[in-house]
Amino acid sequence: MFGPWIVTLLCGLLGATLVQANLGPPAVLNLGPEIIEKYLTQALKNHDATAILHELPLLSAMQEGSGGIPILDGLMRSILRYIIWMRVTSANILQLVVQPSTYDQELVVRIPLDMVAGLNTPLIKTLVQFQMNTEIQALIRVEKSKSGPARLNLSDCSSSENTLRLSLLNKLSFMVNSLANNVMNLLVPALPQMVKNHLCPVIQQAFDDMYSDFLKLATAPVGLSPGALTFDLLSLAIQDSNIMLNLKAKLLDSQARVTNWFNSSVTSLMETTPDGAPFSLLLRQDLVNGVVNTLVPKEELVILLRFVIPEIARQLQEDIKEINAEAANKLGPTQMVKIATYSGPQIVLNEDGATAAQSIILEVFPTNTDVRPFFSLGIETNYEAQFYMEGDWFMLNFNNISIDRIKLMISDIKLFNPDILKSTLTKILNYTLLPNENGKVRTGVPLSLVRALGYEKSVLSVNKGALKLTPVSF
Ligand SMILES: *[C@@H]1O[C@H](CO)[C@@H](O)[C@H](O)[C@H]1NC(C)=O
Ligand SMILES: *[C@@H]1O[C@H](CO)[C@@H](O)[C@H](O)[C@H]1NC(C)=O
Ligand SMILES: *[C@@H]1O[C@H](CO)[C@@H](O)[C@H](O)[C@H]1NC(C)=O
Ligand SMILES: *[C@@H]1O[C@H](CO)[C@@H](O)[C@H](O)[C@H]1NC(C)=O
Repeated sequence: MFGPWIVTLLCGLLGATLVQANLGPPAVLNLGPEIIEKYLTQALKNHDATAILHELPLLSAMQEGSGGIPILDGLMRSILRYIIWMRVTSANILQLVVQPSTYDQELVVRIPLDMVAGLNTPLIKTLVQFQMNTEIQALIRVEKSKSGPARLNLSDCSSSENTLRLSLLNKLSFMVNSLANNVMNLLVPALPQMVKNHLCPVIQQAFDDMYSDFLKLATAPVGLSPGALTFDLLSLAIQDSNIMLNLKAKLLDSQARVTNWFNSSVTSLMETTPDGAPFSLLLRQDLVNGVVNTLVPKEELVILLRFVIPEIARQLQEDIKEINAEAANKLGPTQMVKIATYSGPQIVLNEDGATAAQSIILEVFPTNTDVRPFFSLGIETNYEAQFYMEGDWFMLNFNNISIDRIKLMISDIKLFNPDILKSTLTKILNYTLLPNENGKVRTGVPLSLVRALGYEKSVLSVNKGALKLTPVSF
């Protein structure tokens, strides 16, 4: 029935959708409603949105609103005879509200407005004042585009008559009261349209500013010494009231050459669902490893054991005596240990914490002039990694080193079971390798994101397959 090419095509399509569904980004910046409200409010201030409300042309809008309908036209003409001037005398944009939408990949922004309009008429000495409350609603959507990545778009900015409330602020004589009521009847259809025409373009500009601020925050390069970590936008998503910027990353060396790419991956274990924090930054395990390996590259340490840790040098000599007494006697004052790491520590992130594994080769030389070691051991070590924030710094510390496995690779003194050295070797590693690696990560990595988003304190928590940075509010 079906030719083989149809089967292939179907498989291809299925494969593609499966892969798409499971692709996990290497980093996610998750911005909650609190942040969106704060940035949009600030951007509206920067564009002087309340000044625009002050300049709303109330009278001409009422005239336009009545255009064409004879009853309203007549009403307008009779009203205008009694109005010397009319304008907005005070205007406030109240607390913005960002809400989830019933539609997928959409957010609702509600912007409540509170204004007072004053009307000057020869009928009365005092100003006739109206309280005007209305609300603008706009939608933020993820717009997919065929060329280039998706972007956020502001759409459907409008103010509906349903949210409009008008009331008189003064008690007035019958004559003035009837004028005021007529004015309000004309304002009901005119005001929402006028607010939309004048304020929506400003909201659009404020939204564009907010969006480019978000992109800047998400893609700010992080200085590593050496090199840097840079981020680019991979995709966007809206979930509940959160904007999620999915990011890809690159590690650069000191000459700004790319040493590692971190793209979306099928094997990601990272849970990205927002959890109610004002914001969070998630870093996938392989990206964390890339950073750690930049800070702690593979290396070789040479230690004159008796000068550095005489107590443990003696202990090692005792251990070797058990294996070969003659060899133990050859250990001189310059007895030497060489430790070569195969790579930086390999970090594994789990709910119960972070561990680091590292394979090393450890060689024991009787003196510093010997070129052949007594023996070479392959050692698999394991230690705890603690990630934490200290102010704006991403910090890391290793401790509690232990040995998982020891393998005797070469021995010039006799074949022996290397496990008898385990306790002494653990101490050697604890006093040499561990402080050396901790020294390299001591300064930490500067992360400006938390402060840039207006928070003082933050915590790093370890999740399955990812590190998560969230602010601490107090
Ligand atoms: C953004 O929304 C407006 C409607 O407000 C629409 O005209 C425009 O095409 C949208 N832009 C994109 C890139 O989808
Ligand atoms: C990641 O993507 C870039 C281009 O976007 C590509 O050049 C690179 O080879 C990719 N790396 C991996 C490991 O997939
Ligand atoms: C080392 O491990 C022990 C138990 O295994 C634990 O009690 C101790 O707190 C750890 N030390 C550090 C500095 O984490
Ligand atoms: C590991 O080294 C630290 C000092 O760097 C020391 O305080 C600690 O007691 C040592 N732990 C073991 C088990 O030797």
